[in-house]
Amino acid sequence: MVASRQPDDFVPPGRKPGGSGAGPDAPPAIEADHIDCGYGGDPILRDLSFSVRRGEIFFIIGGSGCGKSTLLRHLIGLNRPSSGDVRFFGDSFLEADAVHRRDLLRRFGVLYQGGALWSSLTLLENVALPLEEYTTLDARERAELAAFKLSQVGLAGYESYYPAEISGGMKKRAGLARALALDPQIVFFDEPSAGLDPITSRKLDELILQVRELLGTTCVVVSHELDSIFSIADRVLMLEKSARGAIATGDPRELALSSPDERVREFLSRGPRPGGEKGFDTAPRPAH
Ligand SMILES: Nc1ncnc2c1ncn2[C@@H]1O[C@H](COP(=O)(O)OP(=O)(O)OP(=O)(O)O)[C@@H](O)[C@H]1O
Ligand SMILES: [Mg+2]
Repeated sequence: MVASRQPDDFVPPGRKPGGSGAGPDAPPAIEADHIDCGYGGDPILRDLSFSVRRGEIFFIIGGSGCGKSTLLRHLIGLNRPSSGDVRFFGDSFLEADAVHRRDLLRRFGVLYQGGALWSSLTLLENVALPLEEYTTLDARERAELAAFKLSQVGLAGYESYYPAEISGGMKKRAGLARALALDPQIVFFDEPSAGLDPITSRKLDELILQVRELLGTTCVVVSHELDSIFSIADRVLMLEKSARGAIATGDPRELALSSPDERVREFLSRGPRPGGEKGFDTAPRPAH
């Protein structure tokens, strides 16, 4: 049996997130330090700084086009900030050499929208893929660990299914099992609720909470689903398009009530305005 590695910053169930076994002086899980993010022209996000605490469920929120996905891409190394630095547990991601970078990449997992599973591979094979790339486990150990990861997300018994044979919610869970395969200290979620019905979406929120409680994993979630924000976020970073950066950071419940910025209160109390945001279409529906 392959033992599951415990992160350095394990948060026991029931403990307040943000506390950690790593000590009060331990660096945060993620630090964005004066980063500029964009695609070559004017930056979409300018001089952005924030940090994510260990064991925290941290949401990146804001209206459509404000740069949430852009920020995520720059945090996980798909794009490089044109200035500033990103540090994971105090180690610079941007200055790391190839070997160190690979080591840092191992420390986080990403759940892409739609799960991003390989359609020609079974769920077990999909989850075993990162184990093949990053570990020296043999085939039997990889299969054993992949089956364990699938069971952690409630997919025991579905090991030999192909992605086309399971529902959208199950695909997200399989994607999460794959993201958790290497026992990452941080998991990034890109719009986890997109395309899911409210009940499935709530179950996924519960799964994110469980992952944090059981494994102490730091979770960074890009989302504009108010239900998820209020039920599982410890803190949010709210981006705004015209500000080209963040206009609020903090507990969403407190921000909704008492942010000095009206845009923040409005976003968190009513959701985005009609037509301004996908998923919040409040226009009258045609009769059938
Ligand atoms: N690959 C790209 N090349 C150039 N510009 C891009 C690219 N991806 C996004 N953009 C631009 O960056 C800005 C922010 O887009 P981004 O996708 O980050 O917004 P978002 O907050 O994730 O929006 P949504 O909620 O609709 O997903 C937009 O103006 C968009 O047109
Ligand atoms: Mg996006």
